[in-house]
Amino acid sequence: MKTARGRVIAGTFFHAPSLGNVEVLEAALITVDERGTISAVERRDSPAYRRMHAAAAAAGTLETVPSGSYVLPGFVDLHIHAPQYPQLGKALDCPLEEWLARYTFPLEARYADVAFAHKAYHALVSDLAANGTTTAVMYGTIHQAANRVLVDACLEGGLRAFVGKVAMDNPHTCPEYYRDSSSEAALAGTQALIEYVKSRNGDGLVHPVVTPRFIPSCTEATLQGLAAMGRAQGCHFQTHCSESDWQHRYALERYGRSDAESLDWFGLMSERTILAHASLLSPRDMDLVKSRGSAIAHCPLSNVYFSNAVFPLRAALAKGLRVGLGTDISAGPSVSLFDTLRMCIASSRLLEEGVDPDLPPQRRGRKDARIDWRTAFFIATAGGADALGLRTGRFMPGNAFDAMIVDTQAHEGSIRIFDEIDTIEDVLAKILYGASRRNIVAVYVAGRAVA
Ligand code: GUN
Ligand code: FE
Repeated sequence: MKTARGRVIAGTFFHAPSLGNVEVLEAALITVDERGTISAVERRDSPAYRRMHAAAAAAGTLETVPSGSYVLPGFVDLHIHAPQYPQLGKALDCPLEEWLARYTFPLEARYADVAFAHKAYHALVSDLAANGTTTAVMYGTIHQAANRVLVDACLEGGLRAFVGKVAMDNPHTCPEYYRDSSSEAALAGTQALIEYVKSRNGDGLVHPVVTPRFIPSCTEATLQGLAAMGRAQGCHFQTHCSESDWQHRYALERYGRSDAESLDWFGLMSERTILAHASLLSPRDMDLVKSRGSAIAHCPLSNVYFSNAVFPLRAALAKGLRVGLGTDISAGPSVSLFDTLRMCIASSRLLEEGVDPDLPPQRRGRKDARIDWRTAFFIATAGGADALGLRTGRFMPGNAFDAMIVDTQAHEGSIRIFDEIDTIEDVLAKILYGASRRNIVAVYVAGRAVA
């Protein structure tokens, strides 16, 4: 189907409306209005089902999802460094601070070249959509023109996105060839991108996000100025929080506070803040994040390479923190939230079981750390949407129809269903553990086909 707008979709839908709970809407009907918003969800046994089905069939607006294909909410990727896409799958061999200096800042500096930006950003947007991501929260670079290219690529690709100009003006940690020339430049550049996004954003899919790279890369004036700017204009914020031992120590040495406390001290921890990683948050830091209503972008793949620890996801969820998933391209070497979701489950198991075989079993791991695929599915979809305050991620009236259709029978796909033994929930588990790009046959953002 070319568009889901103005259509009634008949099929089986999977979603995770609340933490740990999966709902199967088997052979259901979903009505999508002309703006791409879900206006009705009818189960097969509801009184309205037959009437709606017949009316849509008569009007020619009925779209039936083929048997063997299933509809899932689109993924919400809460943490992407768009300019690092050309480096995906490379440069994973050294600690964070060295990785930034050796590989990442030189790559991001290339975005002074608008043609390079165009090539990379269009590839990224189309690959995100093709892999089932319908909302993307992204860092750009310091360059105005390249950041506008990123905004335009999202608009043209139809992706729901949050785009920020990265702010980094600390001469002690950012190289001269790649930093904001002053705090004024960091602030003015951020303001300019906010205005550009607002001027281009006809149907409300793309939003600005205030983006101090992280505490070490910004001067105090910039951290304070960005907090005031974002709050005055009701923007979202994104930054890195307590990702690595090095970052953690840096804040303690410079401000005498933990990284999370420092962000709060500068006014950056709001209800609209996305904190990437948060792997090394203390229980006290977690209480602070909770009290400020900020959300966490859990980046399990990237954490393997740069974080020095596994984020205690289950503990954060138990405290009631809002958590979504992030690929953290390119510190995480995959554009797919399916891959990220799998690592999310696996790393929680590693944390619980422990990793050092020389330790006795009772000392090897951390109790009650594991999460299951239901929880991972929730945080990849509804959890991410909740983190951003977006009405999407669940199939319910009033929500945007952001969705993917997964064909479990795709010949070159990576799922095999055995009707003799697989229940409908097994099918969903197999999709989450096994689906690849070939299985994703359609993707919609606000009812519009994007892949
Ligand atoms: N901390 C500061 N910048 C970055 C970045 O680009 N990636 C990651 N993973 N952490 C960071
Ligand atoms: Fe990151």
